Amino acid sequence: MKPPAFIQPMPLDPCRLVRLPRLSDPRGHLSFAEGGSQVPFAIQRVFYMYGIPEGGGRGGHALKRCHQLLIALAGGFDVVLDDGVGQRRERLEAPDVGLLIPPMIWRSMDRFAAGSICLVLASEKYSEEDYYRRRDDYVAALANSRTP
Ligand code: TYD
Repeated sequence: MKPPAFIQPMPLDPCRLVRLPRLSDPRGHLSFAEGGSQVPFAIQRVFYMYGIPEGGGRGGHALKRCHQLLIALAGGFDVVLDDGVGQRRERLEAPDVGLLIPPMIWRSMDRFAAGSICLVLASEKYSEEDYYRRRDDYVAALANSRTP
């Protein structure tokens, strides 16, 4: 599998920004993300968030098994990533940049610009059982996984 084209290494590895191809001509731009290349998982689901009030937020959960790639198709927003040890804030605001988030990362999104669209490519179908929605449960699960 060809590795994604990473823009920069960052703390909270392996959350990574991925540069997506951008084909430009006088008609505009076209970007894409393909499994096995920019997307290092088999895509099982696509969902998108829109109509978010300016300055608003979403998320506030961790996923047990699901990998995701987030793309700001329009507008922009911050993603706060937290692995239980450290935090990192990334602003997504270019349709040719994705943010890969592996399982067991607590994430929330805020500072949405008006008219933003957040596209998410996911490695799993939707299952509420895959969610930690209470941070206490997430922290406890991390602690259990680190216990020898
Ligand atoms: P929710 O997880 O609260 O959104 P956020 O990412 O901002 O935390 O999802 C809102 C509702 O949509 C919730 O009832 C679960 C449901 N949902 C689906 O049915 N399918 C999906 O693929 C997703 C992501 C959510």
